[in-house]
Amino acid sequence: MLEINDLHASVEGKEILKGLNLNVKAGEIHAIMGPNGAGKSTLASIIAGKEEYEVTKGNIVLEKEDIEELAAEERAHKGIFLSFQYPVEIPGVTVTNFMKTAINETRKAQGLEEMPAKDMLKKIREKSELLEIDRKFLSRSLNEGFSGGEKKRNEIFQMAMMEPKLAILDETDSGLDIDALRIVANGVNKLKSEQNAIVVITHYQRLLDYIIPDFVHVLYDGKIVKSGTKELALELEEKGYDWIKEEINA
Ligand SMILES: Nc1ncnc2c1ncn2[C@@H]1O[C@H](COP(=O)(O)OP(=O)(O)OP(=O)(O)O)[C@@H](O)[C@H]1O
Ligand SMILES: [Mg+2]
Repeated sequence: MLEINDLHASVEGKEILKGLNLNVKAGEIHAIMGPNGAGKSTLASIIAGKEEYEVTKGNIVLEKEDIEELAAEERAHKGIFLSFQYPVEIPGVTVTNFMKTAINETRKAQGLEEMPAKDMLKKIREKSELLEIDRKFLSRSLNEGFSGGEKKRNEIFQMAMMEPKLAILDETDSGLDIDALRIVANGVNKLKSEQNAIVVITHYQRLLDYIIPDFVHVLYDGKIVKSGTKELALELEEKGYDWIKEEINA
């Protein structure tokens, strides 16, 4: 599904990713952990194609196709979904209308007609029921006055509606209570399939009690320096990141 080889990337002349490798297959959930400033959000942004980052070396392959040259929009149309660590507010645009537009833009890019209104409504109903989203929530302005948990719920709803091939969820650490963690986790578990792959960026070992990752990676100073299973997250929780630094320097 996704293959990243020897990725080097900079922002404003500063190198942030320093030879990163990652291989994610369809049907898998990967968790990426690592200290603040290691480059986790940068990696997510680069996969999604945000323009402020410059890839100086290496490549990113989605389903056998090199995607570094594609614009963010084109990548989204190919099925890459990125949730935002800091979501934008769009006053006057409802959660539902935002989704309708996003879905129809993707369809247009794929040469399809707009989704008929009744199919759209059916899909909205199905997915909001699956994720236990209140009707009233759907007619609110996007992210405006949303609590942390509501933002997360909205992101998961967007993901459910878009049905991406590759979803990257970058979790913010502040302000997420145990309910918000459960929302993210339940959403991810319900949307997991053999056709898609999910990358979860988190500082929370606890999240991984609910979402069982197939692999856990440690991103440290611009590289993935260690990979393992769920137990690695427990080890990090217990020992922090210093021992990894010692391991690298040894
Ligand atoms: N647009 C930018 N301009 C300048 N520096 C940037 C930019 N984006 C990222 N950086 C820098 O790159 C480094 C990695 O940042 P990044 O946001 O990827 O870290 P992170 O691993 O997601 O950290 P956190 O756990 O705190 O979310 C940091 O030193 C950050 O200041
Ligand atoms: Mg981050």
